[in-house]
Amino acid sequence: MARVLHDPPPMKGRVLVVDDDADAREALSEALREGGYAVETAADGFKGLGKLPDFGPDLVLTDLKMPGMDGLEFLRKIHSGRSDLAVIVTTAFADVETAVTALKEGAADYLTKPLDLTVLSVVVAREMDRVRLRREAGALRARLAERYSFSNLVGSSPGMQSVLKLLPQVAASKASLLITGEPGTGKELLATTIHEHSPRAKQPFLKLHCAALAEPLLESELFGHESGALPASLGRREGRLQQADGGTLFLDEIFAIPPALQVRLLRFLREHAFQRMGGEETLHVDVRVIAASDHDLREEIARGSFREDLFYQLNVVNIDLPPLRARPSDILTLAMHFLRKYGSEDGKTFEGFSDQALERLAGYEWPGNVRELENAIAHAVVLASGPRVTAMDLPPSVGPAPVGTAAVRIPGSKMEDIERHAILSTLEATRGSTTKAAEMLGMSVRTIQYRLQQYHSAPKNEPHLPAVLPSSVTSG
Ligand SMILES: Nc1ncnc2c1ncn2[C@@H]1O[C@H](COP(=O)(O)OP(=O)(O)OP(=O)(O)O)[C@@H](O)[C@H]1O
Ligand SMILES: [Mg+2]
Repeated sequence: MARVLHDPPPMKGRVLVVDDDADAREALSEALREGGYAVETAADGFKGLGKLPDFGPDLVLTDLKMPGMDGLEFLRKIHSGRSDLAVIVTTAFADVETAVTALKEGAADYLTKPLDLTVLSVVVAREMDRVRLRREAGALRARLAERYSFSNLVGSSPGMQSVLKLLPQVAASKASLLITGEPGTGKELLATTIHEHSPRAKQPFLKLHCAALAEPLLESELFGHESGALPASLGRREGRLQQADGGTLFLDEIFAIPPALQVRLLRFLREHAFQRMGGEETLHVDVRVIAASDHDLREEIARGSFREDLFYQLNVVNIDLPPLRARPSDILTLAMHFLRKYGSEDGKTFEGFSDQALERLAGYEWPGNVRELENAIAHAVVLASGPRVTAMDLPPSVGPAPVGTAAVRIPGSKMEDIERHAILSTLEATRGSTTKAAEMLGMSVRTIQYRLQQYHSAPKNEPHLPAVLPSSVTSG
């Protein structure tokens, strides 16, 4: 959050004192000013909130019992906006219960009134230190992330580090480049980044998805056509090669390009010249080609569907992006990157992830690779309220493969038995948390609790007892 400093920053930090009692406010601010802090005061939570943007305190000292917005409500409001602000609550008597609630809601500490000024100065100094450490850690993390990235392309794993190291040279060169990797590993992002850091950056970057168009259209998109060359279109049309002159053309899903076009593309790569469909004129353009494929082109060559000579022409430089499961150390780096990105879009600041959330992120296979991770974090940012993303904020699909499902033999099993098994084994996996189990199973907590009651009251040795007895059997 940007803040305007009207005078030189004080040595020891800024404290906002909020109390409805004017005498208490005065006494506190005097003690704090003497201690070397810059102090502002407010008479209740509303006025306190109003002072935050301009004063930009490092620490808030607030009374709990106040008319209007009380200390707890004020605390919640602060944490829904800025989460790096330390809040110490004060309370007129040893009202431990409210103080404990405040601690649970994220207060840094509480002090009982009448305040002992020595305790006050110790607690304030300690919290100021923590705030400073937290900020330094934040700055350090940002600097590390910078070191592990090339513009938006992030990666700290050895695999990604060697890709990042190559980038300046690859961007400077005009050689054709083939990027391979599973879906969602970042092929398109890599191609864009290379273009943006190349001498061609000011010229166009165009994309053509080779699997999306049938042959005559794909040919026309790539090379253009003269009027009358295509039945449905009138007039001459420029192709992407010509439009990208001076820049970069990204050919995505290159494995899908049909054989006749493979020959034409090969000729272009060798001679930098081509003709439009139905045209005689030879056009010369300066285009760097970057191709991408999530299919193994060598397999396509073996099957006879991809020309080997074209492969070598495209594959002058090859970058293979490993799947996310093969570079586990990138999971956290990327997760932090996306957390900052989506957090700042939503106006939320996060410290990171809870231990359980980290366990789930690290224990998952990520079949959809970085794209899936990005979506999971975007999802969590919407749900998360605290300074840390918890396991509950992540999509239910993210986590280690559920255990124990193999034990139920489906054919012939009754729905109730399957459900019972699913509920009990999920509860085992969540160590009894009905909330987590409900999320994993897509059921309501109430339904699970209701079922548990049923299981407890049902005789265990008769699992096939009909749920509803025929009315003739029930005694009246
Ligand atoms: N190393 C990375 N750092 C930051 N963001 C990344 C990284 N890798 C991928 N992403 C993000 O993940 C998403 C998927 O990446 P991208 O579209 O480049 O993958 P792809 O390999 O082209 O996928 P597909 O084969 O499905 O087309 C994008 O939003 C991209 O910005
Ligand atoms: Mg792509």
